[in-house]
Amino acid sequence: MYKIAVIPGDGTGPEVVREGLKVLDAASKKYHFQYETNVFNFGGENYLKTQKTIEDKDVEELRRYSAIFLGAIGHPEVKPGILETGILLKLRFSLDQYINLRPVKLYNAAFCPLKDKRPQDVDFVVVRENSEGLYKGMGEFKDKGTMDEVAIQISYNTRKGVERCIRYAFEYCRKRNKNKKVTLCGKTNVLTYAWDLWQRTFDIVAKDYPDIATDYAHVDATTMWFVKNPEWFDVIVTDNMFGDIITDLGAMIQGGMGIAAGGNINPQGVSMFEPIGGSAPKYTGKNVINPLAAICAVGMMLGNLGETKAAEAIEKAVIKVTTTKLKSLAAGRMGYSTQVVGDLVVDTI
Ligand code: IPM
Ligand code: MN
Repeated sequence: MYKIAVIPGDGTGPEVVREGLKVLDAASKKYHFQYETNVFNFGGENYLKTQKTIEDKDVEELRRYSAIFLGAIGHPEVKPGILETGILLKLRFSLDQYINLRPVKLYNAAFCPLKDKRPQDVDFVVVRENSEGLYKGMGEFKDKGTMDEVAIQISYNTRKGVERCIRYAFEYCRKRNKNKKVTLCGKTNVLTYAWDLWQRTFDIVAKDYPDIATDYAHVDATTMWFVKNPEWFDVIVTDNMFGDIITDLGAMIQGGMGIAAGGNINPQGVSMFEPIGGSAPKYTGKNVINPLAAICAVGMMLGNLGETKAAEAIEKAVIKVTTTKLKSLAAGRMGYSTQVVGDLVVDTI
């Protein structure tokens, strides 16, 4: 019996989570697994009422679940940063979800903004380090508010943190068994401390995986190749900040935020799955947002829990709906409402 913690969150989060849960229900009936859900109201509305984001006792409670399914965090009336650091990053860090796994997979060539790229050309996975780097929140102001002000933001990289991330990428690449190539995406030519450590660790770990080819690309060149030659990539491993940036571009080349899902993974603990787009306040409550990213997040969650058949069935259903039904993956232009897109996936399963 899986225990799933559900955090619908803000904006369109609850709408897409509803569709994700519908698909979870259909998959559980078809593939005979059992689960129970518990809904948590963390998010902007709750913060405006209580001035609370997530407390340590909430984190302790969440630790007892098999997985977390998150909708979206972000509220127009809350100052930027409060909910992001107080909820999303707090969960990632305190549950030690040190991997952010973001598949970039094009399901329907018609939805790709790149000319002449087919589904087989856009099919790679970004393994983003999810617990360190610039996200660590280290730094300081000196002489704040004066003309001599200095603001320092530190990228914090530990050998252990870097190594566990790189090792995960190699293991994932081996299991994925596609082109068997791991590309390190960094900036060794400028960021000579952090990326020296990453490169050295990468070279050492690579020796344990003689069956896997290795490559290196600077992050700026990586963005160029995402557009020009996405077929060069299989598994990309990178730090927290670069991973954040390149996966937004990755989402666009796979058809947009409407389809992009990610997993915040603690291989030894509780992981959290989410559509990677935001809370989309302007579409809230209109029943027009694309729920497929949230549905794909449910698929990733089931794959992670070991329900491989159910995960595959969800992906197949998403591919079918994306290739045979939808006019677009963008909110309001799908040709169907949020709810009907969920129904289409359920019917296909
Ligand atoms: C993401 C988001 C978050 C991040 C924000 C909301 C803190 O952009 O999941 O990519 O920067 O990691
Ligand atoms: Mn991001």
